[in-house]
Amino acid sequence: MKFGILTGGGDSPGMNAFVRAVVRTALNTEPQTSVWGVYDGWKGLAENNYRKLNKLSVAGLSSTGGTVLGTMRFPELAHNSEIQERIATDLHNHGFDYIFICGGNGSLKASAVIESILRERNRRTRIMFAPGSIDNDVCNVYGSSLGFYSAIDKSLEMLEWIRDTASSHRRVYLIRSMGRQSSYLAAFAGIVTGAEHVIRPNEEVDYEEMTEMIAGRNRDTRIIISEAFPQSLNEVKLELELRFRARGIKSEIRTVDMSYFQRGGKAAVTDILRASWLGYRMVRDAFEEVSSGFYTAFYTGHSPKPLPLDFAANADVTNHDDIPEYLLDFMSALR
Ligand code: F6P
Repeated sequence: MKFGILTGGGDSPGMNAFVRAVVRTALNTEPQTSVWGVYDGWKGLAENNYRKLNKLSVAGLSSTGGTVLGTMRFPELAHNSEIQERIATDLHNHGFDYIFICGGNGSLKASAVIESILRERNRRTRIMFAPGSIDNDVCNVYGSSLGFYSAIDKSLEMLEWIRDTASSHRRVYLIRSMGRQSSYLAAFAGIVTGAEHVIRPNEEVDYEEMTEMIAGRNRDTRIIISEAFPQSLNEVKLELELRFRARGIKSEIRTVDMSYFQRGGKAAVTDILRASWLGYRMVRDAFEEVSSGFYTAFYTGHSPKPLPLDFAANADVTNHDDIPEYLLDFMSALR
């Protein structure tokens, strides 16, 4: 068989463990398999930028961050049917039996479109997809995306560092978190560190109530702000300072952006294990000629049931915009 591996969208820890697992499982199971890395993500696929991988090419990768295959934003792919058609034709003509993809929700949508073209035209290539994104916004009612727990680990460490200075000076810290439209990363980072408040993307912030809460504490306060919340850190700071002045509150406010630091660095153990498990499962399924699908697993060893790609890519099962009510309750109960 001929396999390709692609990592798409924003890099996330766990992608390298996935790449390693696919290569190793494929070559250890059927040594005559040829395994090709697609370089620079979807852009590389559109430009047929592949290189053959062997067992040595993926040595020592499991716990590393980023993606060894590279990835590039390629927004044209979402709406350019000519590129989508060309990718499907090239995959077939180059004899790929399976492409294993790890990426975010943009990659999932692209995979669903290309897979439907492959199916309609009766082409040979099948696509297996594992969610990889620190945002946890990829069909996330079915588990978490690879990289999400790694990003929470990094966030926790940074938030605890900030706590040291915040508590020493009794300051208020406004801290920006990545996560795109999703609240998950900011909310879970808030839960693990015990932040006083997490501002979600669509939240109607009550600044009077927030001021009240800060005044009542008279000590350090850390407020995490989701990436998609429309006001900048500085605008939130000004809103609070205005109210502090009116009430004679002396607390100083500082701002910090954790964003790219959340995405980099070593993978969390759970991401390494689940990425490896998914890569292994997909390859074993491919040798059984299982058809295209979306794979996720709650924990290592949990048997993933592949979902149809078009079902997984549907916004209704993706639950991007907010976290469910029961998690909000969990979050506020721990403040
Ligand atoms: O999807 C991962 C992510 O880090 C988002 O949280 C963020 O909005 C985006 O990627 C940033 O992307 P880029 O690095 O391309 O600017």
